[in-house]
Amino acid sequence: MKAIQFDRLGGPEVMQLREVPKPELRPGTVLVRNHVIALNYGDTFFIRGQYLVKPVFPDTPGMEAAGVIEEVAPDVKGLTAGTRVAYIGMGSYAEYTRIRQSRVMPIPDFMDYEQAAAFPVAVLTAWHLLHSCHQTTPGQSVIVHSAAGGVGIAAVQIAKAAGARVIGTVSSNDKIDFVRKYGADDVINYQDQDFAVEAMRLTEGRGVDLILDAVGKPTFEKGLKCLAPFGHLILYGSAGGPPDPINPMSLFAKSLKVSGFVVPMVYGMHEIHRRGLDDVFRLAREGKLTVPIGKRFALADAVEALRYLESRRSIGKLLLIP
Ligand SMILES: NC(=O)c1ccc[n+]([C@@H]2O[C@H](COP(=O)([O-])OP(=O)(O)OC[C@H]3O[C@@H](n4cnc5c(N)ncnc54)[C@H](OP(=O)(O)O)[C@@H]3O)[C@@H](O)[C@H]2O)c1
Repeated sequence: MKAIQFDRLGGPEVMQLREVPKPELRPGTVLVRNHVIALNYGDTFFIRGQYLVKPVFPDTPGMEAAGVIEEVAPDVKGLTAGTRVAYIGMGSYAEYTRIRQSRVMPIPDFMDYEQAAAFPVAVLTAWHLLHSCHQTTPGQSVIVHSAAGGVGIAAVQIAKAAGARVIGTVSSNDKIDFVRKYGADDVINYQDQDFAVEAMRLTEGRGVDLILDAVGKPTFEKGLKCLAPFGHLILYGSAGGPPDPINPMSLFAKSLKVSGFVVPMVYGMHEIHRRGLDDVFRLAREGKLTVPIGKRFALADAVEALRYLESRRSIGKLLLIP
């Protein structure tokens, strides 16, 4: 089969398309033939050795995809060959991937592979930020940073569906209409404008109840300045570099809360995971949540695709088609 592999740490240029043997099943796993592979910003950290999971060379990047189960290990119950599934798991930049049963989600009939490929990481991250880490309710105001991106554009829609007022931030004017189209009430170009000052103005001096921040250093400290009393900032990534440490005493004056989140943890927590999955599929079925596809690339063009993701020009989800 064809797979992207790399055997040294670095930028997208370390990746190569190779002919490799199909993975062999192990107990508790299934083999999935990938139809659509979704890119994640975390892939850029993985190839540089900066992700939670470290590469074992030669390794294959990628952490989510959708396809069809080709084979099932004898001890796996409840999944059969031919089932359409999406999954979270390392090694998705390939024609076939071996995945643990617990990381596989059958796809509802109404959903196509392109939509399904983005649910395991991007969409569920957005949902758990808004509904597990925080209880987003009607009338709350939420800043979604990098709102045009994969997680961001899902968060805009899920927050709107929860009745929140959504303020998106983006780094270029050409992303503004796109984010508005998916429901944001206001969109700030945070390269041109001080987003904290603008958020205070938009909320008439009160500040926002929640900030979803995966940018890090350029936005974190400023975010604390535009939170409302009892406001909550969730840090779930660091595309712009890790933020400086904060003094917890600085949280006292407005009774603020800072927390973190990482999505793979949820997969070990059956009830919370189930709740998230049921709700994102419901929102999709009701037409309240769609994953806009920014661009499709051939698997062989993974280097170009990951460069594009890093360029900050991409919108929505980027896909690789094997
Ligand atoms: N904790 C978790 O479990 C989890 C899960 C999924 C994703 N994440 C994190 O969520 C973020 C978004 O992931 P994604 O896959 O959906 O990617 P994405 O948002 O589609 O693309 C990354 C975006 O980050 C923004 N960005 C801000 N500063 C940047 C910088 N210095 N260099 C490059 N990009 C920068 C850019 O948008 P603007 O320029 O418009 O801001 C860019 O388009 C990433 O930080 C990722 O690591 C975390």
